[in-house]
Amino acid sequence: MSKFPLELKLLTQADLSSILELDRACFGGLWTLESYQRELDSANSVLLGLHSPLLPVKLVAMGCFWSILEEAHITILAVHPRYQRQGLGQAMLYSLLKTAWERGSERATLEVRVSNQAAISLYQKFGFKTAGRRRRYYKDNNEDALILWLEKMQSPKFQQILVQLHALVCDRLNNFCWSLVNI
Ligand SMILES: CC(C)(COP(=O)(O)OP(=O)(O)OC[C@H]1O[C@@H](n2cnc3c(N)ncnc32)[C@H](O)[C@@H]1OP(=O)(O)O)[C@@H](O)C(=O)NCCC(=O)NCCS
Repeated sequence: MSKFPLELKLLTQADLSSILELDRACFGGLWTLESYQRELDSANSVLLGLHSPLLPVKLVAMGCFWSILEEAHITILAVHPRYQRQGLGQAMLYSLLKTAWERGSERATLEVRVSNQAAISLYQKFGFKTAGRRRRYYKDNNEDALILWLEKMQSPKFQQILVQLHALVCDRLNNFCWSLVNI
């Protein structure tokens, strides 16, 4: 069976329209062009994307984190609705954590809507633990956010976990006819 090559890339100015397209498809317009531009311009922000040259959709997934001191604050994780539940979300999260680990991050954190069971389940699968709750954090519907943390990322144990996660990511993608080029 033929496979779709999947490439991880550091997103740049040239990807801005594809980024906005994916944002609209996943969130209905969460961040503006100016917000993404700021991320691309910031030395503390890492914006990664997954793309496959053979697909009509230019960007199938993206993720972003801020690297501040020893913390990686994950701010975006999104998979195009057409390609969800095929392992791309975990491939993207793995890539964010691996990149944060390479940059020396000790821990990762993020906020997630309490109703977003798909994302919560994904983060839990990767070892994130709930540390608290921000009441009415999301202004559009006054929904609470859960605050999740992943600790001890520079420990030898986490290095082993990354190896296991890599195998998990590759397996799932293979089952859905994706072939990883550079993850
Ligand atoms: C959350 C999101 C990134 C998951 O991406 P995905 O490619 O569909 O996820 P994967 O196929 O890689 O699934 C990995 C794990 O995520 C969880 N998951 C994903 N979709 C799920 C669903 N519909 N219900 C329950 N768990 C789900 C599961 O734990 C799954 O592991 P499993 O298949 O072994 O059970 C995707 O649904 C998305 O982009 N949602 C909209 C944007 C968003 O909410 N982003 C998160 C903001 S914090």
